Amino acid sequence: MKKIAIYPGSFDPVTNGHIDIAERGLKLFDKIIVAILHNPVKDFLFTVEERVEMLESSFKDYPDITVETFDGLLVDYAASRKSTAILRGMRAVSDFEYEFQLALMNRRLRREVQTVFLMTGLRWIFTSSSIIKEAARFGGDITGMVPPVVNKKLKEKFGFIS
Ligand code: PNS
Repeated sequence: MKKIAIYPGSFDPVTNGHIDIAERGLKLFDKIIVAILHNPVKDFLFTVEERVEMLESSFKDYPDITVETFDGLLVDYAASRKSTAILRGMRAVSDFEYEFQLALMNRRLRREVQTVFLMTGLRWIFTSSSIIKEAARFGGDITGMVPPVVNKKLKEKFGFIS
């Protein structure tokens, strides 16, 4: 039976740190479903459609990584995909408390679902979607921190190219 992991997140937008986690996740799992939370109440820079497009383009050379969106509880979505593993990346200690809470709540909701953490690659330790958006908003060069398709989209979004 194929081992499927769900790699959930907001991915607003996807960064090279996310790509690294998904690529390395493929060494543990046969298939990874990158799952974007569809949450209309939260303010995102990119629409879900834009985020799907950027993720699909970033993972176009990985047939075992697919992109989907989900609503509601993550563990229920995982069950609907016949997956018992949630993949998350962990950066500095500052990530720990939130990740710990999330993992424990998910475990309480469905005990059969395990959360698997991969430590981020050292290069990506300070890479986050929010800091990248902040830099890009003011014209900062974020080359090498996000896939080229995301870099372009950010420049368009903030009016640096049309
Ligand atoms: O990239 P993020 O924003 O840190 O990802 C958070 C995400 C999407 C993994 C988390 O908010 C989530 O799983 N939301 C769905 C609702 C849910 O199941 N929450 C956890 C138990 S209350």
